[in-house]
Amino acid sequence: MKTASFAALLLCTRLLANDCRPCHAAIAETFAKTGMGRSITVRPSVLPATFYHRLSNRHYTIAEGRMKRHQPSPAGAEINVIEKTIDVAIGSGNHSITYATRTPQGRLLELPVSWYSQEKAYFMSPGYDKPDHFDMRREVVESCLFCHSDTPEPAAITCRRCHGDAVAHLARPGRGNIYNPKQSSEVCFQCHLETASMGIVDSMRKPGRSVFSYKPGEPLADYKLYFDRSDPPDGRFEVNHTAYRMMQSACYKKSGGKLGCVTCHDPHSARAREACGSCHQSGHTRSKATGCTGCHMAKRKAQDAIHVRMTDHWIQREPKFVDPVKENHEPYLGNLVPFYTKADELSLAVANVRVPTAASAGLYEEYLERAPDDVPTLTALGKTLIRLDRDREAEARLRRVIELDPMESSARLALAVSIGKQGDLAGALKEMKATVASDPDDSYAWLNLGLTHRELKQFPEAAAAFREAIRLQPDFPVARMALASLPAAK
Ligand code: HEC
Ligand code: HEC
Ligand code: HEC
Ligand code: HEC
Ligand code: HEC
Ligand code: HEC
Ligand code: HEC
Repeated sequence: MKTASFAALLLCTRLLANDCRPCHAAIAETFAKTGMGRSITVRPSVLPATFYHRLSNRHYTIAEGRMKRHQPSPAGAEINVIEKTIDVAIGSGNHSITYATRTPQGRLLELPVSWYSQEKAYFMSPGYDKPDHFDMRREVVESCLFCHSDTPEPAAITCRRCHGDAVAHLARPGRGNIYNPKQSSEVCFQCHLETASMGIVDSMRKPGRSVFSYKPGEPLADYKLYFDRSDPPDGRFEVNHTAYRMMQSACYKKSGGKLGCVTCHDPHSARAREACGSCHQSGHTRSKATGCTGCHMAKRKAQDAIHVRMTDHWIQREPKFVDPVKENHEPYLGNLVPFYTKADELSLAVANVRVPTAASAGLYEEYLERAPDDVPTLTALGKTLIRLDRDREAEARLRRVIELDPMESSARLALAVSIGKQGDLAGALKEMKATVASDPDDSYAWLNLGLTHRELKQFPEAAAAFREAIRLQPDFPVARMALASLPAAK
């Protein structure tokens, strides 16, 4: 459009702050059809099914907007039953959909069975195809929503995630008063750059930066730093590897970074065009049918989610790979090096902390000087101090975390442990109870509550807590042993 009509301007004053449709109708329409425009569905309709997971011997039933889990008792009865509502669908279903439930306490928990579109079937969610998976206990953390949701409250991605704040633009619609990403890909990297989905500290937000604080247009390095293994294996390929693999291409490295996402993708329709010709004037075409990408950008199975095939964005002469047959989520214990962003010495040292030592506690303390109330660092420091038996210091750090973020239940549990270790069992019990009240799906919290009751010789209460831990997590040998250890246990 060239000029905004008077009618549109009048209408604009009555618009919701973020509505762009009246003036950019064509863009809004195509964007709504992309995977990004449908990245989250609240209260989705879900295909009913039953699913048996052999490795963990669990049955799942999906029906009427709920997911139920049970195990068969030797007599054939349903035991260890848990049932959750399916409140949010993460993923458009272009490749897959992972479901989440909202707890009465306001947490979002990932559900263990996902829909895979290419195979038109349910399988375990990525990372869950093993005997001892998270089942219905794993929180969908805010960093997961940062990439999949428009806001901390689950909602599909909108214009603001690439164009930022539109207040000035809505007040005076026209050019020059709203961020236009033009040829910069950093706005895409905020979500599409990930060196590994699991197994390493792939990135670290700058201390003091909250998850949703990134502003389109600001340098990504001001928001977070990226890291990669020092010996990345050649064939590593994951679901969210577009930017990571693109950056390995000669086309990217040798064009001074001129190759970006928008070179090939229209951001508003997400459609790809082969832009090879803009740099390779005399590119051979050996097959009109597959185009250039058919040979140079193969589609392959992702190692962190083997039921989906994605396009490998590492443009190679002759891509060679073998599709994985098993997911790989192995933790990596080797050294991490900076990737894409430059890390200062201290940040790199913090990313490389593996074991709780006095030295690592010192690193966290130094790092906190940059932002004394940084919740992830305070939590890590508190937990490290407990391992070093510096419980009084740990308690102070963890109390601060709970003041800053009352929902940080792993810190609350650690706080309870630090209090108990100092001999105040009644104080520990109070915090343990607060932990299970805030996160009643955490089997580990129930175990610790039971152990504290046991210390206080409150055996029936201890037994009830251990039983709840086992119901939530049937494969929990420590809880089973603790229950068996009780004098009055039956
Ligand atoms: C009342 C009409 C109106 C509304 C509402 C509106 N815009 Fe615009 N927008 C315009 C006009 C007019 C232009 C200038 C177009 C031109 O010159 O071709 C523009 C231009 C833009 C540009 C390009 C800016 C530049 O400097 O290159 C972007 C990006 C943009 N709009 C995004 C948005 C987003 C995002 C929203 C919703 C938050 C929005 N617009 C809402 C009228 C509107
Ligand atoms: C707020 C996070 C976010 C940002 C910013 C973002 N993406 Fe995405 N993008 C996603 C997610 C999540 C998906 C998968 C959505 C789905 O299908 O559920 C996706 C999917 C896509 C797809 C697949 C096709 C489709 O229909 O969605 C393309 C292409 C794409 N993005 C390109 C881009 C480009 C280019 C940019 C930058 C201009 C960008 N994205 C910025 C999160 C983001
Ligand atoms: C760093 C950003 C990021 C994080 C963190 C992240 N994802 Fe994604 N995820 C993406 C992007 C981008 C895509 C699309 C990849 C593509 O199409 O190349 C995607 C793809 C998916 C898909 C497939 C969607 C489709 O149909 O294409 C699902 C489901 C999914 N992610 C779930 C999750 C869940 C659940 C979490 C948190 C536990 C998570 N993701 C964490 C960025 C992220
Ligand atoms: C995934 C990131 C992303 C999202 C989401 C997004 N845009 Fe854009 N937008 C871009 C990029 C990148 C450009 C620059 C494109 C280019 O230069 O080729 C752009 C350019 C524009 C322009 C200027 C076009 C021109 O001719 O100069 C307008 C207007 C616009 N966007 C409006 C919107 C509206 C309205 C929405 C929401 C319906 C939206 N955008 C959502 C990435 C995005
Ligand atoms: C922004 C410019 C640009 C675009 C767009 C681009 N390339 Fe390249 N490409 C390069 C440069 C520069 C090199 C390195 C040439 C050299 O080594 O002299 C390269 C190298 C290659 C190589 C050799 C790779 C290797 O590892 O030796 C292949 C194959 C290739 N490009 C294919 C493609 C295909 C296919 C497309 C489209 C899908 C494409 N390129 C798009 C700039 C580009
Ligand atoms: C040289 C061209 C080119 C560049 C550069 C490029 N893409 Fe792609 N992209 C493609 C092609 C081709 C496809 C496959 C499209 C299809 O199958 O319809 C694709 C597919 C995708 C998909 C769909 C999921 C998948 O893996 O099949 C996503 C998401 C995506 N690109 C995101 C990005 C992002 C983000 C960037 C920048 C980091 C980027 N792309 C850069 C050409 C490119
Ligand atoms: C049928 C598969 C196939 C198709 C289609 C194809 N290529 Fe290639 N391409 C290859 C192979 C194999 C090589 C490596 C062997 C060689 O150098 O001859 C290669 C090498 C290249 C190289 C690096 C060597 C050189 O010639 O400089 C570039 C650049 C390239 N291709 C670009 C393209 C572009 C651009 C297109 C689309 C117009 C395209 N290719 C289509 C198979 C293909």
